[in-house]
Amino acid sequence: MVNDIRDILITEEELKEIIAKLGRQVTEDYKDKNLFLITVLKGAVLFLGDLMREIKCPCEIDFMVTSSYGSGTVSSGNVKIVKDIDVPLDDKDVLIVEDILDTGLTLNFLMDLLKNRNPRSIEICALLDKPSRRAADIKAKYTGIEIPDEFVVGYGLDYDEKYRNLPFIGVLKPEVYER
Ligand code: IMP
Ligand code: MG
Repeated sequence: MVNDIRDILITEEELKEIIAKLGRQVTEDYKDKNLFLITVLKGAVLFLGDLMREIKCPCEIDFMVTSSYGSGTVSSGNVKIVKDIDVPLDDKDVLIVEDILDTGLTLNFLMDLLKNRNPRSIEICALLDKPSRRAADIKAKYTGIEIPDEFVVGYGLDYDEKYRNLPFIGVLKPEVYER
């Protein structure tokens, strides 16, 4: 599996530092609020696990499942809700926890959907940001780190459902796509 990686973009140690910093910011901003972390499965699951340990104020978590990519590496913009949140949001300060803000089409769709349920507030926390590919007008209040326009895997992110268990973020060798 590691042999399929061309470069390590973000090491385990760097991820830990980035996430500790995000955790401190979220703790400061939400200490007097009703923080509800909504995580989009499956890519953000490792990020959520580490981020919530760095958040030192009370919070609840729940999960949504969307699908937009199929097994390819290009966004279809075609977002489908596979699993929804089933509690009311009107007393909650929602923070959407996402692995990566790429075209932004997925998060744009989710923001609109969740805003319609009148949460007290709603913001985005994305670990990775690929600003060069943005197609939707969407901003994350918190982003971990900006990355170049390359398809990345590891730390929850997949190519064809694989590589999620790598502890770092890396770029695949091109021949992996050609297999
Ligand atoms: P967006 O709608 O283009 O912003 O991307 C939504 C989803 O596509 C993300 O939550 C990821 O699951 C996936 N994705 C986007 N870029 C990458 C990448 O570089 N590697 C793996 N998955 C990605
Ligand atoms: Mg994915």
